[in-house]
Amino acid sequence: MKRVFSGVKPTGHLTLGNYLGAMRQWAAEDQHRADALFCIVDLHALTIDHDPARVRRLSRQAATLLLASGLDPQVCTVFVQSHVDEHARLSYLLECVATDGEMRRMIQYREKAAREQRRGGSVRLSLLTYPVLMAADILAYGTDEVPVGDDQTQHVELTRDLAVRFNQRYGQAFVVPRATHPKVAARVMNLQDPRSKMGKSDDAGPGIVYVLDEPDVVRRKVMRAMTDSGRDVVYDRESRPGVANLLEILAACTGGNPEALGGVYESYGDLKRDTAEAVIEMLRPVQLRHKELCADPGYVEGVLRDGAERARGMARPTVDAAYRAIGLLPAAAESGAPVLKAAR
Ligand code: TYM
Repeated sequence: MKRVFSGVKPTGHLTLGNYLGAMRQWAAEDQHRADALFCIVDLHALTIDHDPARVRRLSRQAATLLLASGLDPQVCTVFVQSHVDEHARLSYLLECVATDGEMRRMIQYREKAAREQRRGGSVRLSLLTYPVLMAADILAYGTDEVPVGDDQTQHVELTRDLAVRFNQRYGQAFVVPRATHPKVAARVMNLQDPRSKMGKSDDAGPGIVYVLDEPDVVRRKVMRAMTDSGRDVVYDRESRPGVANLLEILAACTGGNPEALGGVYESYGDLKRDTAEAVIEMLRPVQLRHKELCADPGYVEGVLRDGAERARGMARPTVDAAYRAIGLLPAAAESGAPVLKAAR
C-alpha cells in the first residue's frame, strides 16, 4: 500500500485555500487509498515571529478542523509534529546533505524573508532551514506521495533531491517521494489581490476566506472580490485572474470545470453569488462537526496521543537506519553490545 504524508502549519486560521488545495482531498481520497499520515507541523510555526499561546491554540484548532473535515483516525494517522522527536533528529542529518545555496533559492524563503525585513524584523535561521525540516517530515515515513497545493512543489522537489543525494552517498535509506495536486484549485488566490496566493499567515483581510467564517462573512468577502476590467465571464488566468479564481473556486466546490462554467455566466454578479453560496454549502458540514468536536476536547487529545504513538513507531526505524548509514555510532544498548559499568 502506498504511504502518503502531508501537513499543515499552525501559523493562522485555516483558509479556503488550505481546504481546497489540500484538506479536502486528504479526507475524500487520500486517507482511503493509502496508508496516510496527516500532521500539524507546529515546529514550522516557530520560524516566524510567534506568540506561544497562539501557536498552541492554533495547533489544537487545526487538529480539530482536520477531523471535522473528515479525517478518520480509524483509517489514517493524525498527529502533532513536535510529539515525534524523529522529525528534528532527521532534520539535522539532512542539513548535512543540503547546501546553503539550495536553501537560499527557495521562493517561499525569499518572499518571507523580504517581508520580514520590510517590517524591520530579523529573519530566523529556522526560516532558512525550514524546507529541510519539511523534507525530514516526509522522508522519515518512507512517503511515496505528498498531496499538497501548488505552492509546496518546490519544497517537495528539494525533498526528492535530498533523498536521492543521501541514498547515493550513504546507501538506500529513503523512498523518493512525489507531490500530488488537486485537479482544480491547487492555488486559490487572494480575493482582493488575485495575483497573490490566499495565505493564512498574511495579515487578515477581506481577500481571505477562512474555513470557520460565518456564512454572512463568506458572502460579503466573495461579493466584494476584485474582478477584472472586462465584462464577459471567461476563464483566463493570465488576463482575468480575478474571474478565473472565482471560476476555479466554484468548480472545486461543485465538481465542475472552470472553463465550461465560464460559458454559463453572463455577469460577474451572478458568478459571485453562486460562488459564495457554493462555498457556504461546502463549509457548512465542516463547521457543524467542528462545533461538536470543540465540545469534546478529550476526544481530540486522545486522537493526537494515539496518532503520535503510531507515527513514532513508523519513523523510528527509518531515522535510526539513516543515523547508522551516515556514520554515527549506535548507542551501546542499541547495537546489542554490553553497557560498560562506570570504572571504579
Ligand atoms: P501550509 O500550512 O501553508 O498549507 C497547508 C496545505 O494547504 C495548501 N495551501 C493551498 N492550496 C491552494 N491554494 C492556497 N491558497 C493554499 N494555501 C495553502 C498548501 O499547499 C499545503 O498543502 N510547508 C507546508 C507544511 C508542511 C508540509 C510538510 C506539507 C510541513 N511539512 C510535509 C507536506 C509535507 C506549509 O507551509 O503548508
